[in-house]
Amino acid sequence: MAKSRTRFVCQNCGTIAPRWTGKCETCGEWNSIVEEAVGGGVGGGGPVALVAKRQGRVIALSTLDGTVQDSPRLVTGIGELDRVTGGGFVEGSALLVGGDPGIGKSTLLIQAAAAAARRGERVVYVSGEEAVAQVTMRARRLGLADAPVELASETSIEDVLATLDHGPVPRLVIIDSIQTMWTDTVESAPGTVTQVRASAQALIRFAKARGSAVVLVGHVTKDGQIAGPRVVEHMVDAVLYFEGDGAKSFRILRAVKNRFGATDEIGVFEMTGAGLKEVTNPSELFLSDRDASAPGTVVFAGMEGSRPVLVEIQALVAQTNLGTARRAVVGWDSNRLSMVLAVLDARCGVKLAGYDVHLAVAGGLKIAEPAADLAVAAALVSALAGVPLPATSVAFGEIALSGAIRPVGHSGARLKEAERLGFGEAVMAEASRAEAPKGLGMTLRGQSHLSDLVARIAAQPKG
Ligand code: TYD
Ligand code: MG
Repeated sequence: MAKSRTRFVCQNCGTIAPRWTGKCETCGEWNSIVEEAVGGGVGGGGPVALVAKRQGRVIALSTLDGTVQDSPRLVTGIGELDRVTGGGFVEGSALLVGGDPGIGKSTLLIQAAAAAARRGERVVYVSGEEAVAQVTMRARRLGLADAPVELASETSIEDVLATLDHGPVPRLVIIDSIQTMWTDTVESAPGTVTQVRASAQALIRFAKARGSAVVLVGHVTKDGQIAGPRVVEHMVDAVLYFEGDGAKSFRILRAVKNRFGATDEIGVFEMTGAGLKEVTNPSELFLSDRDASAPGTVVFAGMEGSRPVLVEIQALVAQTNLGTARRAVVGWDSNRLSMVLAVLDARCGVKLAGYDVHLAVAGGLKIAEPAADLAVAAALVSALAGVPLPATSVAFGEIALSGAIRPVGHSGARLKEAERLGFGEAVMAEASRAEAPKGLGMTLRGQSHLSDLVARIAAQPKG
């Protein structure tokens, strides 16, 4: 009798281990290794019949300068979503939407499905998590019941593919979620890496063969990785994350990979009783509940992709009771904070070694730009000195290790947005002055060294 063969697969990164271990050697995840039967799946060898020798056929090779047409896109009409995808879902492509449970992935996608269906496209929405009645009920609550979306509640990939191949080719297919799908071709349990990978591959193959745009929904673990199938991220053409602060109602859709567009655009939505609403002026939202009179708060004029976004940076410093001071950061890079603290210490004589430092980007936005350095430094100095900064001022600029303030890109757009929102003063690199638009009704405070800014703040009256 043939011995049944099994192997050990990490559910986090997909590595195949020769034996069970508590910790995956490749990704360092604990308790992620699961025994699975060999056969099928990508790299699993496949059933013998599929591996049978086949004569290769000659493929026509082409050149880089060959004529290409821009990939046709399916515009949903939800502006914030189309912005993140780079102008709509690309035909014949697969896209993964990740996010924590309850963040609003299903809501976003049923809205997108309805919007596309109302434009006359054939849209199929397959839910593996909810019954058709539940999806219908939600759609009714969102006022989408009249949209001709075709619904199914199904988890078998073979059945899903057979259904999709029946009738005219759907232009948009939504699979909610990929973790609930399973295929007969592999033996592992649903939700395992092998299953998810095989299911995703079958759906991606369908997308490429038929020219449909396929959207896969994926759950995200606590530490922000798409649960289990990180491998799926490599297989799809685009990966979007839907994130937000549980307590707040707004949600941010961010592209982390996009073969057909930029990855730095964000889409901002607000979760309301009637579903997700687009937020076309995010700065107004992020600054809506701001207390400008408190020391330690500074408005940063940032950029998210091609769009300026103003957001408040909050700092709190308090004498530490412990041996080592705490540095806690929400929404920014903690290494960058260490650097700003070191520059303040070494170049400006601002000693924060004995203080706990808490830094937060208001509203749950995550900032990756070095341009936030200056606003962070100003917030820290303001918090330490107990001096509130002028409520109508914004800051942006990169800080070099020497303490010099460097100009950053898009200064004109940042200033224009600040002016539009009623700010009267901008603290920035002296060199950014050249980029200021003509006729701007703002006072520009160009600084070339961080110590000038520290001296300015220290000279202000305490609040
Ligand atoms: P859902 O789309 O089911 O999240 P996911 O698919 O990412 O798990 O969204 C669920 C949450 O959204 C739920 O907590 C309730 C909230 N919600 C609203 O506030 N308003 C609405 O109109 C809808 C449909 C959901
Ligand atoms: Mg859902």
